[in-house]
Amino acid sequence: MNFIDIIRKKRDGFELTKEEIEYFAFSAADDSVPDYQLSAMLMAMFLNGLNETETLNLTDAMSRSGDMADLSEIEGIKGDKHSTGGVGDKTTLIVAPIVAECGVKIAKMSGRGLGHTGGTVDKLESVPGFRTSLSTNEFTDIVNRCGLCVAGQSGKLCPADKKLYGLRDVTATVDNIPLIASSIMSKKLAGGADCIVLDVKCGSGAFMKDEESAKLLAEKMVEIGRGAGRKIAALITDMDVPLGHNIGNSLEIIEAVEALKGNGPDDLTGISILLAAKLLQLAGKGDFNECKALAKSKIDDGSALKKLAEMVKLQGGNPDYIFNTDLFPKAKFECEITAWDSGYINHMNAEGIGSVCVELGAGRLRKEDKIDPSAGIILSKKTGDRVEIGEKIAVLYCSDEKMFDSAKCKFIDSVTIGIEETKKNDVLIDIVE
Ligand code: URA
Repeated sequence: MNFIDIIRKKRDGFELTKEEIEYFAFSAADDSVPDYQLSAMLMAMFLNGLNETETLNLTDAMSRSGDMADLSEIEGIKGDKHSTGGVGDKTTLIVAPIVAECGVKIAKMSGRGLGHTGGTVDKLESVPGFRTSLSTNEFTDIVNRCGLCVAGQSGKLCPADKKLYGLRDVTATVDNIPLIASSIMSKKLAGGADCIVLDVKCGSGAFMKDEESAKLLAEKMVEIGRGAGRKIAALITDMDVPLGHNIGNSLEIIEAVEALKGNGPDDLTGISILLAAKLLQLAGKGDFNECKALAKSKIDDGSALKKLAEMVKLQGGNPDYIFNTDLFPKAKFECEITAWDSGYINHMNAEGIGSVCVELGAGRLRKEDKIDPSAGIILSKKTGDRVEIGEKIAVLYCSDEKMFDSAKCKFIDSVTIGIEETKKNDVLIDIVE
């Protein structure tokens, strides 16, 4: 098969065969086709789309491009959770220990930051010693010992997605329904869980900016999961405003710990309980309301917090940081942003705020960039809040004071203050089952 012919075929808007899609995915996995040809194909797919059959074939080929996780050594029901990516989204750190504490095993592979969105692996690595690169044996052993393990994507699992995910990040081909659906679902299918809850983000900080496209993405992924015999549901959730107040790696661990202590912001705690409850319901732990109460009880009795600390310890991290988050090193510099007008926060462009965080060092501008774990933003005010001129809206944190000049301007550009009262959005928009 000639790769140029396949690029041309997609470029001209024709449907690719199963064999052609397999050739594309397997060539990405074994590096037998150069990045420029893979990128050209991604752009052709982005511009001309993939129909239902092509999306299913791409998901299937990517999931088979490496090893399929064998979770047979893990006893009991296995659950998984995946978010399409957002700003301040630390729900995995709350949902996973809650669900594990309820007896559903979480053997989860998480990602690093992508574009303006954060990644669970980067966040967990801000705990000193924490290891996200684990052998299969270590991974299964940790799940069997504490019911929970969050690792980075192994090079052997879905290598096609690993390669294409990196190329999409730097070729403006991320925000596309078939490409996101096949990327996420190939990993979920290869990951081997019985029950999957998806968090499909929608709004200014999400890859899907409007409800219609978020719903379409959710439906597509649920259909793929169900077709593969998994119990699956998707919650469509608001990402027009960052979730919680803290954005940035160790800042998000600190806020997740507060949520597990029962002191988290309502939006973060509320949606984490709903995600946990839906996963517990899929795992047969009761109806949705019973599962909500069950999830909440694991925060109230402190057991989910202990479960997170147990996982941190087994993955080589220092659990003292979970029980005492004051141990996290503080950023060297901080810069307070105050309201330039009195009124209401009418809008926060969550993507803009996520990009400011990346610029401060909490994410990567280039693949090889190192993360600054203490960099980020703490928001004191969010969309819908009343502010008086001169009142604190946010504090930016970083380790190089020079970064503040541009970051401050970009932050201010991302926030609109006006006189009209603005309603706060509910975090849960819809459920697709
Ligand atoms: N998360 C993924 O795993 N893949 C995407 O394409 C987008 C978000």
